[in-house]
Amino acid sequence: MIKIRWVLPLALLLSVPPLAAQQAGLEERVESLLGRMTLEEKVGQLIQYTASQPDLPGLAARGAVGSIFNFIGAAQANALQRRAVNESRLKIPILFAADIIHGCRTIFPIPLGMASTWDPAAAELEARIAAREASASGIRWTFAPMVDIARDPRWGRVAEGAGEDPYLGAAMAAAYVRGFQGNDLSAPDSILACAKHFAAYGAAEGGRDYNSVDMSERTLRETYLPPFKAAVDAGVQTIMTSFNSLNGIPATANEHLLKTILRDQWGFRGFVDSDYGAIEELVDHAVAATPQEAALKAITAGVDMDMVDATYLSLVAAVKSGSLPESTIDKSVHRILRAKFALGLFEQPYTDEQREKTVGLAREHLDAARAVARESIVLLRNEAALLPLPKSGTIAVIGPLADSKADMLGPWAGFGKPEEAVTVLEGVRIKAGTQARITYAKGCGVHGGTAEEMAEALSIAAKSDVVLLVAGEEREMSGEASSRAFLDLPGEQEQLLEKIAATGKPIILVVLSGRPLTIPWAAANVPAILWAWFPGSQGGHALADILFGEVNPSGKLPISIPRSVGQIPVYYAHLPTGRPEKPAEKFTSKYLDSPNDPLYPFGHGLSYTRFDYSDLRVSVGENRTFAVSADVRNAGTRTGDEIVQLYIRSPVTSVSRPVKELKGFRRVTLKAGETRRVEFTMGQNDLRFWSDGGWKVEPGTFKVWIGPSSVKGLQGTFEVK
Ligand code: NOJ
Repeated sequence: MIKIRWVLPLALLLSVPPLAAQQAGLEERVESLLGRMTLEEKVGQLIQYTASQPDLPGLAARGAVGSIFNFIGAAQANALQRRAVNESRLKIPILFAADIIHGCRTIFPIPLGMASTWDPAAAELEARIAAREASASGIRWTFAPMVDIARDPRWGRVAEGAGEDPYLGAAMAAAYVRGFQGNDLSAPDSILACAKHFAAYGAAEGGRDYNSVDMSERTLRETYLPPFKAAVDAGVQTIMTSFNSLNGIPATANEHLLKTILRDQWGFRGFVDSDYGAIEELVDHAVAATPQEAALKAITAGVDMDMVDATYLSLVAAVKSGSLPESTIDKSVHRILRAKFALGLFEQPYTDEQREKTVGLAREHLDAARAVARESIVLLRNEAALLPLPKSGTIAVIGPLADSKADMLGPWAGFGKPEEAVTVLEGVRIKAGTQARITYAKGCGVHGGTAEEMAEALSIAAKSDVVLLVAGEEREMSGEASSRAFLDLPGEQEQLLEKIAATGKPIILVVLSGRPLTIPWAAANVPAILWAWFPGSQGGHALADILFGEVNPSGKLPISIPRSVGQIPVYYAHLPTGRPEKPAEKFTSKYLDSPNDPLYPFGHGLSYTRFDYSDLRVSVGENRTFAVSADVRNAGTRTGDEIVQLYIRSPVTSVSRPVKELKGFRRVTLKAGETRRVEFTMGQNDLRFWSDGGWKVEPGTFKVWIGPSSVKGLQGTFEVK
């Protein structure tokens, strides 16, 4: 398990005045500054440009830019900042931002891999380290975490989130926010977090990026919003709107989302950024005839900052012509200035350029990346205990991704450099040393290969004792604008796998990818499968640690792996139907050509040891809480981490409820033979559902499970009166 150590310089701790005094002072400073601003200067604060915008120095000197993103390097940031602070009339500093998604220089597993750790402390640590590295380059705001729930692996951005479940997603969202923002926003290594993309972006129809979304208010509230709410409760300072329309209203002009829910119901006080060009895109959504009308709609709906397209420049004219009250602009500027004050940018607008030279890839950071990557790798299958491997004999390492540095890093690798990543081949070679012979052949490329490449791979496989096949997607295949209609192993990788299997050599399949892939043949025929996502800079070491048994695998799936694209969406928390699947009966809810259940279910993940569950107990506590506990015993011969999961099913209620819902989880480390009682407490909020415009709990008998995945566990019941 990951333990967090907070390193805060003592001088910094001592210099911080009490919070209430800080906040009161902050509001006064914001108001006083706002009172001195011209309309043009105010609108300038609402504009965010990329680093490629022409004449940034001139814009900075005129006070015509609030934020710049994708800026690389402290020296450049400082140079521009000098123009803003020394030359603009009111000396308002620029807020530099970037997509620091799963690490800045030291790259951690992609967020979906991070979610496979089921370890919020790991996410917090990752974000803390990323904040330290990013702030050293002048970045004080990241566009992360992405907290979109995603139940459709065709959508390339499943890689960037925590998977299919709102409870797990909420826990990870809050952890990232704590990590990025730190204990004190004004500390030089704290950066603003941004919960994105608000909202329901992960439900894009057909899994096609940017596509529209139509969903019930209940699904929105229960499934897609909880991670955002958790981020807000954890103090997230910014929110980014999503590209999609929701029930016909684009998110970037959606008052229901941005006013009613975010501000009125949740009390969010930070500022809202549009996504890249999303304001102008209101014209393409056909809810605004012109960019000017789009700007008006967006600011009125509650979008404070305009990313990239500068449609907000038209707001000056809108105020002057009387079509927009200046007070609307004032509110947005107030929020943005408040964030700049809270970051301490007015006191310290510059970044210490020396820090940038030393902070990236610090030993401590690399060690953390390796430790977290180990937790993120999921062992899906391990027939006849093929793994762990002994360090002996000949191991043939094969596959297009076995020695691909860039692909270890994944789709949003910040300032990570491919040459600094450790591949699977490198990790295995280093770990095996002289004890085992390691041979290598690519076999094919990710998208295709030659007969010679295939022949070479078959030849080394034939001469080996065991084959390690590293297959999957290259990193550009997931992330934004990377939806796929087919989810099998791309190119000739499936043929490579099947041909190698035909040699009769035992195969360990390591999958690198940004999403679940459909691998039914492998699941039936390959004895060992490790799902490693994109594991980051230290991924090769982490995999070698697991392959040779120095570390016991412990990750669990944060998203179901489907058998086929035709099953999608397939997720564990589905509603019951009136005709539950009965294989022998025709008129039940099923496919003619596939089982209903996924290939690997949510929460699944094996270990080199075995965990037994016993003695489920439920008791009623104070304030209408319920305590549910069970004994978990490490019944094997080696220490391991188990992720213990708690699920419920609601009783007969006025609306149909999911067949299972995750309501708790805990990562516990157990020595061989050790037993631990794991207890969860549930409050009324865990039992509620959305109905008729509000939350409610209805009485009845709930089912409860504690177990190792969404499909296994001890079952009990409890009564809600
Ligand atoms: C568009 C993406 O949707 C968003 O997630 C990202 O933060 C921005 N581009 C900025 O790069």
